[in-house]
Amino acid sequence: MRAALVLLAVWCLLELSWAQRVSQLQWLARLRGRWRRPQAQWADGRARDCPLECDCPVRFPEAMYCHGRNLHHVPYVPSHVKYVYLQGNRITGVQDGVFDNATDLVWVVLSQNRLDSQKIGKKVFSGLKRLERLYLDHNQLTRVPPNLPRSLTDLRLGHNSISQVRAEAFEGMTELSTLQLHANSIEDAGGAFQGLSSLAVLDMRRNNLRKMPENLPERLHQLYLGSNKIESIPADFLSTRPKLQFLRLTGNMLTDKGIPSNVFNVSTLVELDLSHNQLERIPIFSRDLENLYLQANRIKEFTLSSFCRPGDMRHYSQLRVLRLDANRISARDVPAEAVYCLRLAASIDV
Ligand SMILES: *[C@@H]1O[C@H](CO)[C@@H](O)[C@H](O)[C@H]1NC(C)=O
Ligand SMILES: *[C@@H]1O[C@H](CO)[C@@H](O)[C@H](O)[C@H]1NC(C)=O
Repeated sequence: MRAALVLLAVWCLLELSWAQRVSQLQWLARLRGRWRRPQAQWADGRARDCPLECDCPVRFPEAMYCHGRNLHHVPYVPSHVKYVYLQGNRITGVQDGVFDNATDLVWVVLSQNRLDSQKIGKKVFSGLKRLERLYLDHNQLTRVPPNLPRSLTDLRLGHNSISQVRAEAFEGMTELSTLQLHANSIEDAGGAFQGLSSLAVLDMRRNNLRKMPENLPERLHQLYLGSNKIESIPADFLSTRPKLQFLRLTGNMLTDKGIPSNVFNVSTLVELDLSHNQLERIPIFSRDLENLYLQANRIKEFTLSSFCRPGDMRHYSQLRVLRLDANRISARDVPAEAVYCLRLAASIDV
């Protein structure tokens, strides 16, 4: 009798600890998105082929999360996955074949890895006919990967070591609307952007550009060129195409000589950043310009005719923000008539 009781007690203890262990495992497994039992609920058993290194949440079976786990290579991507997150690993290459079955991929995030151009398969992305976003920023790429899908809308290549852009690098990418190439060492992008008929935003800050990019597509409305070595702007840069609304040229080497007299007198421009250059005069602007940054230049004179026609009190400037601080003028140099011409300006910093 006593023996039976002891046995029962031991059995209960075992049962308890087993149950605890199982529930612990369940908890762990669920946390990792790899709990297998409810597979019947998914009907198609999709999570089965999730690579061990990654999580494929039951509730979002189209996503595969593999970020921040010290991976050295891209795991095999199963065919049902549309979104794959691989950022923050130590991946150096993308070997041919990893995406061969994943032809439905829409996003591939490979930011913050150690990607090396030599180790990117030549056709590794070319079969992804539905790929819209490809994030390859913060890597060690020295060139734009070849054979990128023409379906891309958002391509991020910032913070790499790209120094040259081949003329055909973006060939046929007519869906591309955002292209980030900032923080590389590009000296001249040639005509590489010419065929990008949907391109709206081009970010080329922090490169080694000595001149304005050429043959920009017509749809482009935001162009970021800060922190380059640009000395001049072609006279027709804004009047022909593109129809830019936002142009940022802070931290370049622009002088008065490099600014043709009517280059900024275009009604499409809404925001213009010319701060941290070497201008001595205020150029002529269209009355439609709303935000103007001219701080940290060498401007010696406040010329109201840069904003309004002298004596014309009816047509005033649309400027809301005007920064002229850190130049060689003071508030005393601003003429009284500025009140009429710049009547919408909420702040004028001198
Ligand atoms: C790729 O997909 C095919 C067809 O769905 C399948 O038979 C094959 O096993 C998959 N390849 C791998 C490596 O999973
Ligand atoms: C700026 O352009 C407008 C419209 O094209 C033109 O009428 C005006 O004379 C130009 N301003 C200057 C100062 O040339």
